[in-house]
Amino acid sequence: MRVLNGLQSSGSLHIGNYFGAIKPMLELQDSNDMFMFIANYHALTSLKDSKALKANTIDAAITFLSLGLDPDKSTFWAQSDVKEVLELYWILSAYTPTGLLERATSYKDKVTKGIGANHALFSYPVLMAADILLYDSQVVPVGKDQIQHVEMARDIAIKFNNEHGEIFVIPEHKVDENVATVPGIDGAKMSKSYSNDIKIFMDEKPLQKLCNKVVTDSTPMGEALDWKSCNVYALASLFLNESKRLELQDRYKSTNEGYGHFKKYLKELIWDEFFEAREKRAYYLNNQDKVREILYTGAEKASKIASVKMEIIRDAVGII
Ligand code: ADP
Ligand code: TRP
Repeated sequence: MRVLNGLQSSGSLHIGNYFGAIKPMLELQDSNDMFMFIANYHALTSLKDSKALKANTIDAAITFLSLGLDPDKSTFWAQSDVKEVLELYWILSAYTPTGLLERATSYKDKVTKGIGANHALFSYPVLMAADILLYDSQVVPVGKDQIQHVEMARDIAIKFNNEHGEIFVIPEHKVDENVATVPGIDGAKMSKSYSNDIKIFMDEKPLQKLCNKVVTDSTPMGEALDWKSCNVYALASLFLNESKRLELQDRYKSTNEGYGHFKKYLKELIWDEFFEAREKRAYYLNNQDKVREILYTGAEKASKIASVKMEIIRDAVGII
């Protein structure tokens, strides 16, 4: 199955992103023909600082490589290294009714949040359709906020195929319903915009400080604690298998330990989970040429598919 995903680099990622999006995606790479790219053209719609955009692109690549993206299993590249996607974006634009784009909720949300209403932001879903359709992608794993964009890619592909024959594979979105919402340190949904998030890559001391801030009730030491309503438990359980969860529940009931102990335990779980990733990250940060090389190799693989596909598309629409 050809599975494709684009990753926009939007600053440092938190453990909600990890359990909600990154981990489920990486699990797909073992049994699928995985295509993953850093969506830096998309990032340009909201980021106008050239240094930051360059740094974020490499940083996103480093983050995904560190967390387990395997360039031998997955095709991994930077969107801007395969220029065909921009050509297809233009061609698809000619098959995209403006009414379709005007209905995009993500565009409206971004404008409401104060991001300048430029044309690239408006036509963002057409470039996303080009990303998906150029590589004959069958499945696109997304969060709920991106479903509408994949549906637009389908609409555009169907409209195009109706005129020119079966040129495009019609993609399907895949939303992982099993993924629970990870709570932040205040118990609300963890989100960078609520400043309640725990970043994946933190130094040990600030990490412990943040874990200490996770909101709990005020049950005193010596009384049994309620794990069901506890944010520390909810976060810790993400890192545990079933038997370890039961063990932790017993510790909550035992009256021997207080929240301070469980906050230390939570820090250890986070620290250990990302230990290997942190080492890989340090390696890639010191070897950024290696990261560029990995992205170029991926781009070469993606380009081969893109150039064959573009010939068919150009011929279909009449571009000589
Ligand atoms: P944020 O809310 O921090 O801005 P994004 O909207 O950039 O996060 O989300 C990127 C991905 O991470 C999406 O696929 C989203 O579903 C997932 N995600 C973000 N926060 C959480 C969370 N608290 N629990 C589970 N998944 C999350
Ligand atoms: N819009 C996606 C996001 O913000 C990133 C993206 C760009 C993408 N092109 C894509 C995702 C193609 C899936 C398929 O997260």
